[in-house]
Order: sequence, then C-alpha cells, then structure tokens
Amino acid sequence: MDSENKLFQTLKAINKISNTPRIRFNNKVQQILLEVTKCMGTGKGSIMITKGKKTLEVVASTNSDIIGIRQALDKASPSSWVVKNKKILSVDPKSDGDVFGNKFKHYAKDAFLVAPILSNNRVIGVINVTEKSGQDRFSRTEQESLLYIAGQVISDLENHRLAESLKNHKRILKKKNNKLEKLEKIKTDLFNMLIHDLKGPISEVMANIDILTYTISDEENLDYVKAAQSGCDTLFRMISDLLDIARLEEGNLSPLIEMIPPDDIINESLARLHGLITSKRIEIIQKTGDMPENISLCCDRGLILRVLQNLFTNAISYSAREDKIEVGCYMSNDGVGILFIRDNGPGIKEEFQEAIFDKYVQIIKKQDGRKYSTGLGLNFCKLAVEAHKGKIVVESDGIKGSCFKVMLPVYVGS
Ligand SMILES: Nc1ncnc2c1ncn2[C@@H]1O[C@H](COP(=O)(O)OP(=O)(O)O)[C@@H](O)[C@H]1O
Ligand SMILES: [Mg+2]
Repeated sequence: MDSENKLFQTLKAINKISNTPRIRFNNKVQQILLEVTKCMGTGKGSIMITKGKKTLEVVASTNSDIIGIRQALDKASPSSWVVKNKKILSVDPKSDGDVFGNKFKHYAKDAFLVAPILSNNRVIGVINVTEKSGQDRFSRTEQESLLYIAGQVISDLENHRLAESLKNHKRILKKKNNKLEKLEKIKTDLFNMLIHDLKGPISEVMANIDILTYTISDEENLDYVKAAQSGCDTLFRMISDLLDIARLEEGNLSPLIEMIPPDDIINESLARLHGLITSKRIEIIQKTGDMPENISLCCDRGLILRVLQNLFTNAISYSAREDKIEVGCYMSNDGVGILFIRDNGPGIKEEFQEAIFDKYVQIIKKQDGRKYSTGLGLNFCKLAVEAHKGKIVVESDGIKGSCFKVMLPVYVGS
C-alpha cells in the first residue's frame, strides 16, 4: 500500500473508532493508538494529554504500565518540548548532526517522532511513536502523516477534557456548597440564640410595665404606659414567631394538644390586642353560636393564640379606622373546625394568595398605622397550623376584604 493510501485507511479507521458510541475514552484512545502505530510501522507509541498548564498524562500506550503516569511540563523531555514549541519533533539518536539528537540521547536508542495535537492553536496533547522497524529515521511524509492523524483525534480529546473539567467543576461546587451550608447553619444557630436571649430583657420590661398599669392612676400617663405595653407585646410575639419558625421548620416543635372551646381562644387573643383595637377604634363583631357547644378545637393553646394574634394584627393593620372585623368559628361539612377572621381592608389578589404564606413575603408595603412588619407572621401561622395537620387559607376578591380561615381538628364531647 502506498503511503497516501495507508494514511487514508488509518484516518478512516480512526474516524470510525471516534464515532462508535458507548466506548469508554480510555479504550477509544488505545484503539486509535494501535491504528497509529500500525500506520507508522512502529513497535511502540503513546498518546499524552495536557492536564492544566503544568502536566502531561499518558492516556494510551503500547506499554500499559505507564498509562495514567503524569509528567511535569517543565521537565526536559521531547513531549514537553513539543508542547512548548507547538512543532513536530523528530529525533534520530544515531545521527550526530541532529539538532535534538544529543539532548534527548538518553531517551531511546531508536529514532522517535513526537507530534503535537493542536486545537485552536493550543497544544492539548502529543502522540509519540518509536521503534521504527527496518529504518532509522522518520521520513518527511511520515512526519506529515502523524500530524494529520494528530488532527483527527482532537475532538475525542476535547470532549474528554470538557467532561473532566465539568466533573472537576461539579466537585468544587459541591465542596463550596457544603461549606456554605455549614456556615448558614452556624449563622442560623447564632441568630436563634441571639433572638432567644432577647426574650429575657423584654420579659423584664413587660413585667415592669404591667406593674405600672396597676399603679398609675393618672389617665393620660396610663395611655402612654398602655401604648408601651402594646408595643412590647408585639415585639415579644415577633420574637416568638421567629424562634418558632426555626423550630417548626426543623421539626423540633410538636404542638401540645388541648381541647379548647373556640370562643375561649378567640376571646383571649382579642384581650391581648385590646390596646391596638381601641387605638384604631375597630369594631369587632364576634359571631357566636355557629359552633355546637360540645365541640372543642384540638390545638396547642400558645401556638394557635399567636396564630390568631397574627391574623388580627394584620386585619387591624389593613383596616381603615373605625372599620369592622368579623371573627367566629364553625364546623365544615367534613367535620373540621374553621376559625375565621374577616376584614374590610384592600383584599389580596388571587395570584398572591399562596405566596403571602411564604417567608418574608409582603404584598402591600407599610400603610398607615402599620408599625411593625417582617413578612414572617403568616409563615409562622402556616407552619403552626400545619403542625396540627390543619390548613390555613385566605379568601378574597382582591378588591375589598380578606377572610383568613384556620382549619383545625375538633373533639366532639357528649
Ligand atoms: N388582612 C390582610 N389584608 C391585606 N393584605 C394582607 C392581610 N394580611 C396579610 N396581608 C398581606 O400578606 C403579607 C404578609 O403578611 P405577614 O406574613 O403577616 O407579614 P407582615 O404583616 O409582617 O407584612 C403582608 O405584607 C400583606 O401584603
Ligand atoms: Mg403580619
């Protein structure tokens, strides 16, 4: 076979190997190398690829022992020389006149040829062949042939390089993500500890203000004290919501279930918001009698009390002065107790009716009379109600009025 035909057959064979699906990269390059050594008529050969900017790795070789071995690029070797110079290197140790002959004399007793594998003018690997049978040197045509062949294996090497680099990136990202998660946990724990510690001093302020409400006789001063009391209550509730959200999210808070008549819990929450209700002159219409007397809600008093306080605080905030708010409880057809709070505020558009229960979501920014706002209140309500295996929803036409409904299990007494 003449050399051109031989080259053509080799390129065809390599192309076929490259396009065969589902062969592992290592097998593929090994098969390609065999075609190369066959074409060049050499006994030995190897394919190396660059790893980063400093290393070359053997990915295929006629000596399987050296596959996977890495070589530093700054080491004086024929392969490094080719990577640096982007040129083919033909070494004939026997000919003294050869430019590279002396330098690489220790490498082989036979002539050898190293061709760069170039992609976008960057060397991504090299092909080495040596032990040329029956001849000392590689002819010019043979040198050109190896360069052609090197051009043919680029796509395989590039794909491999991309896959490797993706794997690497994935590993780095995973590591960074783990680190971030750990930091996030430390931050959350610290934050919760801090919030928890705030409870102490606030309780002290609250207890003292409480004493003041009994001891101050002068009406005007009593108003100031009551305003301070109401502010402290809100602050305390906000802190409790924050702490409980974290606990509920981690599943570390299980409700302490009691049987509570709905009117009891409604009255208690209203009593705690007395200051806010009177200061905005809100009229509370309490719908009683919808719930049979022998039915109680099965719930954690503290948690559901705060759910109602949150819903009332929102309803009051979004109501105009002297507006009406309705509250009550009834049984659904499928035997669930439904607490409801209905206001005449601006309503909530349908597209926001689910999102408002997520953390930090606020649709309507601070309005007149809204002093405190975190976007956490409804998130707490949802988590607290769901911990009871209940549900919380809002109904609104998005134009006027919202009705929040809390569905809870009930106990039917005799
Ligand atoms: N009764 C209501 N009427 C109108 N919008 C409401 C009402 N209750 C809640 N929202 C909307 O839901 C958002 C989330 O409420 P919430 O979680 O209690 O946070 P915050 O009260 O701190 O803003 C509010 O910012 C508001 O946009
Ligand atoms: Mg709120």
